[in-house]
Amino acid sequence: MPTLLHIDSSPLYGLSVSRQLTGAFVTQWKSAHPNGKVLERDLTATAIPPITAEWVGAVYTPEEARTPQQKELLSLSDSFLAELEQADEYVFGVPMHNFGIPSALKLWIDQIARVGKTFTYADGTPKGLIIGKKATFIVATGGIYDAHTQMASFNFVEPYLRTLFGFLGLTDVTFLTAGGTMSLNHGHDRDAFLAPHLHAVQAHVQTM
Ligand SMILES: Cc1cc2nc3c(=O)[nH]c(=O)nc-3n(C[C@H](O)[C@H](O)[C@H](O)COP(=O)(O)O)c2cc1C
Repeated sequence: MPTLLHIDSSPLYGLSVSRQLTGAFVTQWKSAHPNGKVLERDLTATAIPPITAEWVGAVYTPEEARTPQQKELLSLSDSFLAELEQADEYVFGVPMHNFGIPSALKLWIDQIARVGKTFTYADGTPKGLIIGKKATFIVATGGIYDAHTQMASFNFVEPYLRTLFGFLGLTDVTFLTAGGTMSLNHGHDRDAFLAPHLHAVQAHVQTM
C-alpha cells in the first residue's frame, strides 16, 4: 500500500498558504492512490524538545546498552523515524521564517538526523540512509526570492533543505514555492493568488 507522510509546520493554520497547498496535495494524492495511506504529522501541534546532552548521550550509547531513561529520551525521535520509514513519499509544508525554516521543523530535523538511523560514517565517509523515497517541499514566503534576483541569496530554506536531506540520502526532491504571500495582506485576492500554485501542485502530483 503506498504511504504518504504529510508534515506541516506553519503556525497559521486557516491562514496558512503552505497548509492549504499541502492539503491540496494530499487530496490529489488520495484520488491518485485510492488504496493509499496518509500519515499526518503536524509539527506545530507536536511538543518537540530541543536536544540535550543526555539525548546525545543516548544516541551514542549502543542500543542494547541503553537504560530505560535513555530509551524514553529517544522515544519521540524513534516514532518520527518510524513514520519516515513507513512512508514511500513525503510532503512538507514549509513557511519561511526569518529567511529560514520554522523552528518547529528544525526541532523535528534534530530528532530525525540520527547516526546509524538516517546517516552513517561507517566506512569513513558520510552516507545517507533515507533511500528510495520521494519528497515534495511546498514553501510559502512573504517576499519573492526567485533565482538570479538579488533576493535569492536571502533564501536559506531551499538550499538548507536540499543539503540536509541530500546528506540523509533523500535526493528525489521537488520544491514548489508560493512566493509573495505578503501581497495577501495588501488586498490581493487569495483565490487568485493561490490558483497557479494549486495548479502546480495538481500537475506535480499527476507526474509522480
Ligand atoms: C515569524 C515569521 C517570520 C517571517 N519571516 C519571513 C522572512 O524572513 N521572509 C519572508 O519573505 N517572509 C517571512 N515571513 C512571512 C511568511 O513567509 C509568509 O507569511 C508565508 O506565507 C508563511 O507561510 P504560511 O502562510 O504557510 O504560514 C515571516 C512570517 C512569520 C510569521
